[in-house]
Amino acid sequence: MPQSMESASSDVFNPEIGPDHVAIIMDGNGRWAQNQGKARLFGHHEGAKRVKDIVSACPDFGVKHLTIFAFSTENWKRTQSEVTGLMSLFRRYIRNEMREVASKGVRVRFIGDRNRLDAKLIKLMAELEAETRENTLVHLTIALNYGGRDEVARAVKDLAHDVKQGKIEPSTVDEVTLTRYLDTNILPDPDLVIRTSGEARISNFLLWQSAYSEYEFIDTLWPDFTQDVFKECLMRYAGRDRRFGGVKK
Ligand code: IPE
Ligand code: IPE
Ligand code: MG
Repeated sequence: MPQSMESASSDVFNPEIGPDHVAIIMDGNGRWAQNQGKARLFGHHEGAKRVKDIVSACPDFGVKHLTIFAFSTENWKRTQSEVTGLMSLFRRYIRNEMREVASKGVRVRFIGDRNRLDAKLIKLMAELEAETRENTLVHLTIALNYGGRDEVARAVKDLAHDVKQGKIEPSTVDEVTLTRYLDTNILPDPDLVIRTSGEARISNFLLWQSAYSEYEFIDTLWPDFTQDVFKECLMRYAGRDRRFGGVKK
């Protein structure tokens, strides 16, 4: 692991039995700030700092893919000042923090519908993706203006277009075909989905991909999510029995 990336705490976790792909619904920034009498945006800024810590821990924990939910297709319903503040945080974060993460060997990609994002942000996202194309240490996927239903609808639209063009025979369409049209087509399905902040719902995150994922719903608010809390989730995952509809051997 590159030296300047802060290493996760020393008591050893066996990465062999850990998940390859962890997806996180980073929830609770607003409540974290409000609990201290501060503005919600303060919580978003603090929450953004945790991303770097968690990405840094992935190599030690054997996590190859990390997917994080940063902004949902429903989050536009928030006040204009919160949305504007979040968008400027994303721009700043990609320009500064993410560049540093990228220089350590992390590949960064984005999923979600970019059409509604501003041109400056879209450009920064594309540049970061291009810059990190050859990196392999950790595959970080950031879900930005992402919704599971929106993703499936866009995939079906593209698929229908290809059928109309004669590129695909309708009778051959199956699960694998549809998977190829999803934003996540380059990713394995998540093994573990973690949601912070005590809410036990998935809020439109990776609906198709998480069909057989294990879930961890934890009370910790996202700005308090440390490498140790992350490790505890991975350890509980390691004790689970995944059957995929089969029977225990
Ligand atoms: C998650 O924190 C970040 C985003 C959804 C952008 P919230 O902003 O949802 O925080 P709570 O749930 O209101 O505490
Ligand atoms: C889910 O959190 C979206 C992100 C973490 C980006 P929300 O705070 O938007 O979800 P709900 O509204 O509580 O379901
Ligand atoms: Mg929330």
